[in-house]
Amino acid sequence: MSTQLQTSGRIESGTLIEVENLSTHFSTPRGVVRAVDGVSFTLERGKALGVVGESGSGKTVLSRTIMGLQPRRGTRLGGSVRFEGKEILGLQPKQMRGVWGKEMAMIFQDPMTSLNPLMKIGRQIEEPLRNHLGMTKDDATATAKRLLQDVRIPEAERRLQQYPHELSGGMRQRVMIAIAMACGPTILFADEPTTALDVTVQAQILDLINEQRRERNMSVVLVTHDLGVVAGHTDEIAVMYGGKLVEKAPTRRLFAAMKMPYTEALMQSIPKLEEPSHTRLATIPGRPPDLVNPPVGCRFSPRCPYASDKCREEEPPLIPTADDPSHSYACWYPVGSPEYLEARARLDAQKVKVA
Ligand SMILES: Nc1ncnc2c1ncn2[C@@H]1O[C@H](COP(=O)(O)OP(=O)(O)OP(=O)(O)O)[C@@H](O)[C@H]1O
Ligand SMILES: [Mg+2]
Repeated sequence: MSTQLQTSGRIESGTLIEVENLSTHFSTPRGVVRAVDGVSFTLERGKALGVVGESGSGKTVLSRTIMGLQPRRGTRLGGSVRFEGKEILGLQPKQMRGVWGKEMAMIFQDPMTSLNPLMKIGRQIEEPLRNHLGMTKDDATATAKRLLQDVRIPEAERRLQQYPHELSGGMRQRVMIAIAMACGPTILFADEPTTALDVTVQAQILDLINEQRRERNMSVVLVTHDLGVVAGHTDEIAVMYGGKLVEKAPTRRLFAAMKMPYTEALMQSIPKLEEPSHTRLATIPGRPPDLVNPPVGCRFSPRCPYASDKCREEEPPLIPTADDPSHSYACWYPVGSPEYLEARARLDAQKVKVA
C-alpha cells in the first residue's frame, strides 16, 4: 500500500478507490445483459482517470455502479468497491447520502437535465451547502458567489439571480461544476461532460476540471468515447470494450505503446487537426458485442483484423506488460508482437492487391 500523508485531517495521497472484479448485470426479457463484467482497477487520490470506449461499452454503468447510483431493481451486482478502505458496493441510498455530494460529486453530459429549470442558479448552489455543510443563508450565498468566481463565471453576483435558460451551454456546465465543487468532494465523476459543447468551450471546461482537481487534490473520473478528449487531461486511461476493462495505462504510455488492437482502432478514430474538417472519421468496422450473448474468447475478436483461432476460443486475461506493471492489457497477440506484425503485413499486401 502506498504511503499516506495527512495534513489538516485530510489524507493527501494513496489509494482512494479500489474496484475488484466488479460486475453489473441486468435481467431483461431478452436475457442477462452483462453491462460491466469483472472489472478491477484502483484510483489514487488527486489523479485523473479517463474511461474510454465505444458507445455501449459500459462506461456509464461502471461509473454509476461505483457511485452507488445504479437502480437496484433487476440489477445484480458482484465484486467489491472500496472507497477510502470501506466497502460501499450495494449500500442503501440512505447509507450513501453522506458520501454523495460531500465525498463523491458528479457532472453529466447535459446540464439542462441536472439543473432545475425553475430555480435560480444561486439557490441551486446554496442548497447543498446548507443541507450538507449546515451553512447559514448568508454564508451559503457568499460561498456560492465565490464558487461561481472559481469556475470563471463573470458577474457572479448577477448570475446567482438568473435561471438556467438564461445561460449558455458552457456557462451551465460551469455552474454544474460549481455545484459539484460546493462541498469539497474527494472525487468527481464527469460523464461526457463536454459532448454537447463546441470544441473551444470543451477545452475550457476540461481545463477548468483539471484546475479544480489540482487545487483541491481531488480525483477525477472522466468518461468519454473520445480518446482525444482524455489525452491532455488525464494521468491514466482505462479502455472498456463490451463491459470489460481491456487496457489500462498511464496516458503518455498508452499513446506511445498501446497493446490492444481495439485501443489502436479507437486511436485511429480521433479526428486529426491537420486533416480537412470534412474528412470522415474512421469508425471501427463491425458492431459492438451483444452483451446478452457476448462472443466466446476475446470479445473484440469478431471485429479484430489480427484475430486468430486462439482469440476466438480463449478469453485473454488482463495482464501487466513485462516492462511496466502500471500498463496492463488483455490480448493474446498485442500490437507489435510477431503474430500481429505478420497479420498486418498480410493485410497490407491484400490492400495493395485490391488497389
Ligand atoms: N437498466 C438497464 N437495463 C438493461 N440494459 C442496460 C441498462 N442500462 C444500461 N444497459 C446496457 O448496458 C450497456 C452499457 O451501457 P452504458 O450506458 O454503460 O454504455 P456507455 O459506454 O456509457 O455508452 P455511451 O457512450 O453511449 O454513453 C449497453 O448495452 C446498455 O444498453
Ligand atoms: Mg454513457
